[in-house]
Amino acid sequence: MNPKTFKIKNFGCQMNVYDGERMGELLGAQGMAAAADGEDADLVVLNTCHIREKAAEKAYSDVGRLRREDGSKPLIALAGCVAQAEGAEARRRSPMIDLVVGPQAYHRLPDMVAEAARGGRPVDTDMPALSKCGARPARRRATPSAFLTVQEGCDKFCTYCVVPYTRGAEVSRPWDEVVAEARALVDGGACEIVLLGQNVNAWSDGDRGLAELIREMAKIDGLARIRYTTSHPADMNDALIAAHGEVEKLMPYLHLPVQSGSDRILKAMNRSHTTDTYLRLLEKMRGARPDIALSGDFIVGFPGETEQDFEETLRLVDAVRYAAAYSFKYSARPGTPAATMEDQISRDVMEDRLRRLHERINLHQLAFNRSKVGMDTQILIERIGRRDGQMIGKSPWLQSVHLDTDARPGDLIDVTLVSAGPQSMAGAVRERVAA
Ligand code: SAH
Ligand code: SF4
Ligand code: F3S
Repeated sequence: MNPKTFKIKNFGCQMNVYDGERMGELLGAQGMAAAADGEDADLVVLNTCHIREKAAEKAYSDVGRLRREDGSKPLIALAGCVAQAEGAEARRRSPMIDLVVGPQAYHRLPDMVAEAARGGRPVDTDMPALSKCGARPARRRATPSAFLTVQEGCDKFCTYCVVPYTRGAEVSRPWDEVVAEARALVDGGACEIVLLGQNVNAWSDGDRGLAELIREMAKIDGLARIRYTTSHPADMNDALIAAHGEVEKLMPYLHLPVQSGSDRILKAMNRSHTTDTYLRLLEKMRGARPDIALSGDFIVGFPGETEQDFEETLRLVDAVRYAAAYSFKYSARPGTPAATMEDQISRDVMEDRLRRLHERINLHQLAFNRSKVGMDTQILIERIGRRDGQMIGKSPWLQSVHLDTDARPGDLIDVTLVSAGPQSMAGAVRERVAA
């Protein structure tokens, strides 16, 4: 019997959140309904992440937890990057999995679910370039801040990373298609759009690049804010930098992962930048948009990383003064070149470096947040806070701002930032403005 209700659990990056929403719409179009919170679903889709070992292992422990007390289980679909990386092998590791669907094949999910419900065990990890996009049903509702995938895949082959294998080569969705989807999102209630791509700034259609796309989106009435993520330093061009100085709706925030502050390690990682080219890029960006909030990603404990290399990373963090940054312990991924490099770093050393890096990043985050105290700005309300009457929204610099207000998600309100912590700000409402 075909399942009547489904639940989709997303792990990993924003791209999975976007894909998860699309899978939900595809299942909905087949007459299935999303199970309510806490309710048992007939079908569970685990939309998985393969980026680090912990994330990938979580997929399997989550599968195991789906067995019910009476010994029965829902239909289980393994989707996302673990599905792509392991294909049919995933079913050998966990026979509870009924179907395996890769991130480029999920337009086939409804058919595969029907096949699995009949007792079949379908696996689809084909990678036709973005054919899934045409198969998407029209979107109905949108969250105040909505994701919109414009680019997928990666050709950069950093030596530690699985993404080029799980998401395939770099592909851009066509101009007309993404502009139409942006309009539909705004019609559906979105007032912020976050353009997504594994290398979003590599997006192109003919001679038009991400800067032109952003300028086009800025023309959409009712759309108040535009963001994009994740960018690669190699694809950061002058047109995009200029857009930051000129397009008012483009928010002053740039996530530009660097990974390390040591040129020796950057080379071993096959990153195409040096600390110097990276810093010069950011300087240009600050020239165009002086208040831009900069964010980045770091890996500590890459094979061969010495204490001196690591200290260079700390120095880079000080030089950039990040408004936010994410750091990870290196995780050896099967099939990547770094996994077999000599001089793998011990867990203790990695943990120590991660802790020191976190401390340093926190100092800069706090300093950035404090620099905004007393400032009047606008907050996009996104969700209900923990306390009664409290709401949480985002500043232009992507800070989480807590405030007491009767404003609803999707409202854009005038706020004064009154205090700062390392992870969030408190705001006081000045006056309601129309969204
Ligand atoms: N395309 C984006 C996102 C890649 S994944 C980019 O290039 O930035 C997000 C982050 O995970 C990376 O920036 C990197 O810091 C981290 N990461 C990727 N592979 C990893 C690995 N094997 N071990 C630890 N962290 C990793
Ligand atoms: Fe991975 Fe590097 Fe591609 Fe980012 S640029 S997805 S880190 S291979
Ligand atoms: Fe994870 Fe795949 Fe995203 S590996 S980070 S879900 S692209």
